[in-house]
Amino acid sequence: MWTLDDGRVERGVAEVDAAFCELLTQADRITDGEEARFNAAVGIRIDELQAYVLGGMTGRIADYSARAMKVARQALLDEWKFQVRSHRFRYQPVLTAAQQRNLEILKKDGVVCLDPIPETASDLWNKMWWERRLLRRQADRLPWGRCAMALDPHSPAGVMLQRTLRRVGVFELASAYLGCRMEFLYAALDHAHERQAWYKGCYADVGVDTSETAYMHLDADCDIVKAMLYLTDVKPENGAFRFVRGSHRWVRSPFLVALYKGFDCEQDAYFERAQNTLDYEGGYYRPRFHAADHRRELMCLPSSFRGSTHFGDDVIDGTPLSKRLLASEDVFVGSRGTFVLFHGAAGIHRGSQVSAGERWAIQIAFRASKQKSERPPRYVNERLASLRYQLRRLKHLAVNF
Ligand SMILES: [Fe+2]
Repeated sequence: MWTLDDGRVERGVAEVDAAFCELLTQADRITDGEEARFNAAVGIRIDELQAYVLGGMTGRIADYSARAMKVARQALLDEWKFQVRSHRFRYQPVLTAAQQRNLEILKKDGVVCLDPIPETASDLWNKMWWERRLLRRQADRLPWGRCAMALDPHSPAGVMLQRTLRRVGVFELASAYLGCRMEFLYAALDHAHERQAWYKGCYADVGVDTSETAYMHLDADCDIVKAMLYLTDVKPENGAFRFVRGSHRWVRSPFLVALYKGFDCEQDAYFERAQNTLDYEGGYYRPRFHAADHRRELMCLPSSFRGSTHFGDDVIDGTPLSKRLLASEDVFVGSRGTFVLFHGAAGIHRGSQVSAGERWAIQIAFRASKQKSERPPRYVNERLASLRYQLRRLKHLAVNF
């Protein structure tokens, strides 16, 4: 019978990680040929590891693992390219004293509460009357599911939000944190409510309750910094945002984090999405751990491969790890306008898990720009995009009148 040697896999993973970390130390000296350098130093070791792990594996789990490895390889290559770019386009904005203080906190804790912006939150709330109506309808249609939508950047609320972000200097803060110029990536309106259950009951079939650390996760996107803006008053039971203080500095295997991201992303090849496209049929957000047949196949993998970026659901209550995570977790309660910036790529966080009432919030993502300087706005294009939004809304209202 074919078996894998966990020790050999762990040595292979350590070799990939060592090669990757060594490569990163050269990021300040590279001017071209990033991909070839990556392939020669890291890719070749991933190939060796993949050949060993997949050598005797067959069936669905072999196909799944190959897909995950491919994503992992690409994620490490992207991170390497990002590091090279951020050295090439080194960006150090001038900060005010208050921004400097926030930067220190962000570096130390991975999360920082910015000055609240209650008036902006109220204005956004009013401007998003249509989006809120859509999400209320969505909550009724699929009560257990996630309830969020991308905010059109050219909608009244989208435009106002981006102006506010510029005014309060959050781009400079995020840029100083990652050392490269950051740009707006997206904003999403999130309606969390007590009927939701998408994070519950992973192991209910074997009598294990939803863990206290459920939905703790990392985003694993190296070039992204995020923010959370509350549109309603939020108490702990209303799905408050939570962040494990300092966890963005915990040492992890770059390869395994990338691989877990690969396994998570490739779930779509094996599981049907629910009607809201955010969840999966079956009602749980990590179906590969929920479905008994997939869970059995997972056990064919080397033990270090059996993880997820969304690992909190697998931590057993009462264990030292669970206690440590919960003890370091900050709960961000606050009134409308509470504004939190966090390094979700590397820091452990969660939110939207409501036990009573509801929470309305906007999640904002900033991404490291691939351009050295900002492109001038194209007024005609932006005006057209704004008109398209208005037309879409009008059409929707006419049809649903
Ligand atoms: Fe996240």
